[in-house]
Amino acid sequence: MMAKGYKGIGMEGPIARWYAASNGRAPDRYDDQVVKVREYARPGAEILEVAPGPGYLSIALARTGDYTVTGLDISETFVEIARAKAAEAGVEVDFRIGNASAMPFDDGSFDFLICCAAFKNFSDPAGALREMRRVLRPGGHGFILDLRRDPSKQAVDADVARMGLGTVSRAFTRFALRSFLPRRAYTKAQFEGLLASAGCTSYDIRQSPLTLEVEFRA
Ligand SMILES: C[S@@+](CC[C@H](N)C(=O)[O-])C[C@H]1O[C@@H](n2cnc3c(N)ncnc32)[C@H](O)[C@@H]1O
Repeated sequence: MMAKGYKGIGMEGPIARWYAASNGRAPDRYDDQVVKVREYARPGAEILEVAPGPGYLSIALARTGDYTVTGLDISETFVEIARAKAAEAGVEVDFRIGNASAMPFDDGSFDFLICCAAFKNFSDPAGALREMRRVLRPGGHGFILDLRRDPSKQAVDADVARMGLGTVSRAFTRFALRSFLPRRAYTKAQFEGLLASAGCTSYDIRQSPLTLEVEFRA
């Protein structure tokens, strides 16, 4: 049997639909990432989003009209949702089903890649990093943004407040971000170990009270 690509429960069916609806309430959550991508990716660049979930960021990037965007996610439900949302928005994004640690792309296919709020979910994180480096063109940039292992309680509460969720979703999301999700996440030192095992020597890791931002060069 093929190894499971993710930790915990897969984000399929109602879980994926709940996540898509909750995140859709605050679509400006992705604005900072669009700005970040625009710092690195010149117009005409081919961009890969690894684990886009409902696809909001990929769709926002495609909307700029400057990029060719591909999204790869292991969840069939998310890929279905993301394809429907792209069609609704009238933009083209190639959303595909696949595993971050066994990507269905040739070497050097992309100029830039981004992966948000998903890396801690991968069952083979070093394999995913190796694949990320492989599918980037030489000199291409990768950007991984995820929860840190030790987020501050205040930063979690402030982030959840910004999401504009209803009472039940807010309580669940706060619980998840304070309890089981950080246990899957990585410290800066652990991430440095993963990057080394993937042969990556050119990188920068920045921390905020909530997140770890990893920027690496292929
Ligand atoms: C919490 S969601 C984040 C979605 C989106 N990036 C966002 O910022 O809202 C985590 C995503 O990781 C995906 N995922 C988990 N393991 C994966 C793997 N091995 N390969 C590709 N996608 C994976 C899930 O299906 C899900 O879409």
